[in-house]
Amino acid sequence: MDVGVIGIGRYVPEKVVTNQELEKTLDTSDEWIRTRTGIRERRIAAADMNTSHMALLAAKQAIEDANIQPEEIDLILTATVTPDQSFPSISCMIQEKIGAKKAAAMDISAACSGFMYGMVTAKQFIENGVYKYILVIGAEKLSKITDWDDRSTAVLFGDGAGAVVMGQVSPGRGILSFELGADGSGGKHLYQEKYISMNGREVFKFAVRQMGESAVRVIEKAGFTKEEIDFLIPHQANIRIMEAARQRLDLPVEKMSNTVGKYGNTSAASIPISMVEDLEAGRIKEDDLIVMVGFGGGLTWGAILMRWGK
Ligand code: UT7
Repeated sequence: MDVGVIGIGRYVPEKVVTNQELEKTLDTSDEWIRTRTGIRERRIAAADMNTSHMALLAAKQAIEDANIQPEEIDLILTATVTPDQSFPSISCMIQEKIGAKKAAAMDISAACSGFMYGMVTAKQFIENGVYKYILVIGAEKLSKITDWDDRSTAVLFGDGAGAVVMGQVSPGRGILSFELGADGSGGKHLYQEKYISMNGREVFKFAVRQMGESAVRVIEKAGFTKEEIDFLIPHQANIRIMEAARQRLDLPVEKMSNTVGKYGNTSAASIPISMVEDLEAGRIKEDDLIVMVGFGGGLTWGAILMRWGK
């Protein structure tokens, strides 16, 4: 059975915080942030908007887009490192709020790779015939675990949510291959105590190597060549990291998703938010061969090769 995306949705908070605004409170500059990261602005959720609210808004859109009823959903998976509380999970909160009466629910903690982990997990349950429809959400309120006095991290992150409904798709479409991985020995380079703490250079080196290598591996695993790839959705962490992955696949600039400039790094939400925006803008078309690739805290990584369409 071929398994893919049958509905999409996303939510980003209204409040825009520009680099110029950060210049007022931090020893930084718009020029430094733009040239080192590609980020121009990010969205920051209001105090009374938590991760579950953003997740809910994205999820409702995805369910409507899939043209199914919440009661038909079998499982809810939310990838997040910023749950409202450690339990109940965001997925359980969503289960109640949308009325997904028969759905099981759990959250996935794989940092910025979380959405890739969620999609791959969903694929297994659908493929083996146990479940029919699975809601996969990536949602983060990173602003609540950001130290706004630390210029080395505060300029990087933003808030938002993306969601997909996964189910059976026509033969040859959907997820064609995937790779998930972890290297706990690198956990010390990116972690949260109270706030996000990061060794930027180490994570940068890991990301450049891992994104390129896993993208190439999922393409080869499915028997394709990089020349056949139509579009790349890399985790939106830093334009320099994304560019390295794009060059590894020899793709032109217009064939790579680029939302990091306006949203910053939204961790588990970055790939689904990008997916929705690229579809809406017509950059992804029916039957396109797409590579999605993420990396993040853990350290973790995940890549998916997918033929777009239901
Ligand atoms: O989702 C996964 C999460 N993490 C990532 O993807 C992050 C991966 N790493 C990166 O994206 C980059 O390493 C950063 C953007 C974090 C940093 O860029 P870099 O080119 O690796 O800079 P650096 O850390 O080597 O710092 C260069 C200089 C330093 O000053 P000195 O030591 O050369 O005097 C920093 O103190 O830039 C300084 N610096 C800043 N200056 C202005 C660091 N942050 C800032 C800032 N504004 N915001």
